[in-house]
Amino acid sequence: MTRTLVILAHPDMTRSRISRKWADAIHSACDIKLHDIYACYPDGIIDGAAERQLITDHDRIVLQFPLTWYSCPPLLSVWQTEIMKRGWAYGPGGRALRLKTLGIAFSTGSNARDYAPGGRYGRTLEEVTVPFELMAVHTGMHYLPFFALTGVRELDDTTVDASTRAYIKHLRHAAPSIVASGRDDNRTKTVYPKDVASD
Ligand SMILES: Cc1cc2nc3c(=O)[nH]c(=O)nc-3n(C[C@H](O)[C@H](O)[C@H](O)COP(=O)(O)O)c2cc1C
Repeated sequence: MTRTLVILAHPDMTRSRISRKWADAIHSACDIKLHDIYACYPDGIIDGAAERQLITDHDRIVLQFPLTWYSCPPLLSVWQTEIMKRGWAYGPGGRALRLKTLGIAFSTGSNARDYAPGGRYGRTLEEVTVPFELMAVHTGMHYLPFFALTGVRELDDTTVDASTRAYIKHLRHAAPSIVASGRDDNRTKTVYPKDVASD
């Protein structure tokens, strides 16, 4: 059975509507593990070894967050830097993530028209989220199509509930849009003077 882990990164869950609904549904689902990094690390200091073990124990990793300045909240960036070490996630001997699956799930204040081609921002959500896609490519992971709920301030509860059901389905069944080959590429063969595996 596929072991699915959702890394939740919301700076203030007490004021959340969307992440809260999604998190509650994951709790009820039982077959998906939810890991709330803002709750686990209130001081902002990530336990890299514990996080890497958690990832090792799962096949499918989904990062869940409210879109924040066209990116993820800061603790998720810290998490990424702490976890994605050369020699573990990539580079010589860095095969821990290879052929696992990465996905992102996020909500946005701006609506779908703003992110449509020719819209207010001139950029689509596919473009905005390219760094996550490249994180998967860099580490040899499959990559899921993103799951997004846009224009959240305009949404009624029925729509949010429907998104929650669709999200759980996505977590269980979505197929990758990018399938990793599992082969070494030139970068992973490169030998660097100092290999990093500090914690
Ligand atoms: C500091 C901050 C930055 C935000 N940046 C964006 C953004 O770049 N694009 C966007 O569409 N919405 C942005 N929003 C809106 C949030 O994405 C939105 O409030 C959130 O997805 C709602 O989810 P929640 O109910 O779980 O908090 C931002 C909100 C905050 C507080």
